Amino acid sequence: MKLTRRSFVQQSAAAAAGLSVFPLAGWTKRAAPSDTLRVGLIGCRNMGFGILEHHLKNRDVVCAALCDVDENVLNDRAATVEKNFSQKPKLFRDFRKLLEQKDIDAVIIGTPDHWHCLQTVYALQAGKDVYVEKPMSNSIEECNIMVRAAKRYNRIVQIGQQQRSGFVFNKAMELIKSGKIGNLRKVNIWANFAYGVGPVIVPDEPVPAGVDYDMWLGPAPERPFNRNRFHGTWRHFWDYGGGLMSDWGVHLLDMGLWAKDLVKAPEKVLVYAANTYSQPRARETFDTMTVCFPKDDFVINFDLTAGIQRGPYDMLYGIAFIGDLGTIVTDRSKVVLYPEWDNEQKKFMGEEYSYTEGKESHGEHVRNFIDCVKSRNQPACPPEIGRAAALHAHFPNIAARSGESILIWDDATGRFTNSQKANELITPVYRKPWELPKV
Ligand SMILES: NC(=O)c1ccc[n+]([C@@H]2O[C@H](COP(=O)([O-])OP(=O)(O)OC[C@H]3O[C@@H](n4cnc5c(N)ncnc54)[C@H](O)[C@@H]3O)[C@@H](O)[C@H]2O)c1
Repeated sequence: MKLTRRSFVQQSAAAAAGLSVFPLAGWTKRAAPSDTLRVGLIGCRNMGFGILEHHLKNRDVVCAALCDVDENVLNDRAATVEKNFSQKPKLFRDFRKLLEQKDIDAVIIGTPDHWHCLQTVYALQAGKDVYVEKPMSNSIEECNIMVRAAKRYNRIVQIGQQQRSGFVFNKAMELIKSGKIGNLRKVNIWANFAYGVGPVIVPDEPVPAGVDYDMWLGPAPERPFNRNRFHGTWRHFWDYGGGLMSDWGVHLLDMGLWAKDLVKAPEKVLVYAANTYSQPRARETFDTMTVCFPKDDFVINFDLTAGIQRGPYDMLYGIAFIGDLGTIVTDRSKVVLYPEWDNEQKKFMGEEYSYTEGKESHGEHVRNFIDCVKSRNQPACPPEIGRAAALHAHFPNIAARSGESILIWDDATGRFTNSQKANELITPVYRKPWELPKV
């Protein structure tokens, strides 16, 4: 059988998740979207809007609705959709009203992480398919709920780990799995980003005009408004995100797991976390972390230094897959294979090989989602894969917050076996009237 790039991505992801690549049962209850997929976007400012634009570059997608709690963002994005795509979506400030629209087939969720679980579950209950940004949620229990919900409501859910659809990482996986670096022994990941230290500290201020701040907070604790905890920079605060550990960790750790087709929670994590950056910044998350995930037959190491932009191989972030016969170094634009030195023959074990493709992978990941909504096949990054990656980011953060340097996890009971403090961070406490979905 000729394997196209798309079918390869789809089948390998589904196989890795232990899922069938055949259409799901139960779809017959609802008419399939005809040729045109009608999408709604919840959370319009940055990534969500980027993902919408990738949808709209496909001729078989229209934008039926936009929703944001910031009227300024909402109006600006509506104007862009009209100008660039000649479409006039309905506008909403409350996502529940958007979900009531019967003519919407699928929703894109581009809100901060603390909203992902609630909005995904509500969307699934309303019969929509969902493209939800990574990390799939801000806690362990929310990940579990989302996995169960996608199954129970029998919908397509694509997690926004777009590297799964990227040609560069598919190429890296092909090289690793065909034995080009021999036995994979170690995956070294680094992520050094200046933005990870957070913004300069500013005082609280009144809520800006046009913003429904209560609806931005949603299930998160009530707090005075501060722009550092708001658009874009919310990711440095535990109530809404997990800092660089989850922002980039999810993407990069996902590749380490994919290399061995692991789709499960870590069994053990060893963690060093500290704040070593010289200046005070608005941030709760850690700026310096060294994390180790011992696996049965290899190890994944993750090294994070916020506030700097240089790293190994002169790359600010990257992954080194280390095998007996060579090391593969990747980022989103290139794969380089460095052959090992043969110490008996006194020569390299082959030629250096490098592959570069500037093409980014959001467009591919979005197209994969659209195709799967139509075919009812599993997408490249279903919730099981999203959960495995998210848990590899949440566990180190939970260890650091609990003052533990080692955490051991029992997936059967869904608890850490060695830390009561860590167990207290498994499930978030939702602010009323919001309730953690029961699925
Ligand atoms: N896949 C990637 O490469 C990638 C890159 C960047 C961000 N992300 C993810 O995308 C998500 C959004 O990040 P961002 O950088 O775009 O954040 P952002 O703060 O720029 O945008 C979030 C938007 O959601 C809106 N919002 C908040 N609560 C809402 C609600 N209840 N209903 C409707 N709208 C609401 C905000 O007003 C804002 O416009 C995060 O989960 C982030 O991790 C993914």
